[in-house]
Amino acid sequence: MLPLINLFSLLFIIFTINNHVHLRHAASAASGGHIFIYSGCSQVKYQPNSPYETNLNSLLSSIVAASSQTLYNAFAIGNDTAAPPDAAAYGLYQCRGDLKTTDCSTCISTLISQIELLCPYTNGASLQLDRCFVRYEDTDFLGKIDTSVRYKKCSPTRRGNDDVEFLRRRDGVLGDLQAAVGFRVSVTGAVEGYAQCLGDLSAADCSDCLGEAVAEVKSLCGSAAAGDVFLAQCYVRYWEAGYYDAASDSSNQDDVGKTVAIIVGVVAGVAVLIVLLSYCKKALG
Ligand SMILES: *[C@@H]1O[C@H](CO)[C@@H](O)[C@H](O)[C@H]1NC(C)=O
Repeated sequence: MLPLINLFSLLFIIFTINNHVHLRHAASAASGGHIFIYSGCSQVKYQPNSPYETNLNSLLSSIVAASSQTLYNAFAIGNDTAAPPDAAAYGLYQCRGDLKTTDCSTCISTLISQIELLCPYTNGASLQLDRCFVRYEDTDFLGKIDTSVRYKKCSPTRRGNDDVEFLRRRDGVLGDLQAAVGFRVSVTGAVEGYAQCLGDLSAADCSDCLGEAVAEVKSLCGSAAAGDVFLAQCYVRYWEAGYYDAASDSSNQDDVGKTVAIIVGVVAGVAVLIVLLSYCKKALG
């Protein structure tokens, strides 16, 4: 019986550790919260109680409601001919491609409460968090190609010696990410990264956008241990394996995961034992 219980514990531990590794690949280790990346507010502001405010509020509610259904959507509110022509509001949201819709909607709700504080009464605003993004404007930007740079950042140069090997792997990951359609995670062991295009981009437009983002991050970041480039419609992020772990307590989270796995494994083992014992009892009796 004991080997069977141990086998159960082991299977659960392996399962949990695998899950942790997978999650860490899919995002920086700092992805537990809604990490701020960048924001932008338009100069122009609207009047409280204006038709634009009504349309914008309706747009933001649509975004919050939709985020529990899908990871991307875009809305145009009040751009029909009946409405005042300058009151239309256009907006979209997107969650990171590995999120469940429940996590997407949590992220979007947090984001909307922050964007209202960051950009009070502005006609246009965008906010990129680690896990989700929202942009709205008073002009129709939906579906229009835009590869302008919104945010770029490189970590300090890496400490390791083997830059040639690092760059080879880094460029391998970036090359792989450049071929993403929608969302892609790429890992070589030494370098990890992910990339995403807005949900309405065609495969060709996504590839063009990521091509520019990859070229930008390569020329900007040299042999930095980590780099991020966010364009208006796509982004690419890479980091040297372990780079974000050093700065976070994700090992603690792994320990918690292992403890939970052991408890679950033991409970499952005991359950099997009880079932087997009662079966034996029946068979004997
Ligand atoms: C409103 O904007 C959307 C998004 O660009 C567009 O598809 C739609 O045709 C517009 N509607 C009108 C009536 O202009």
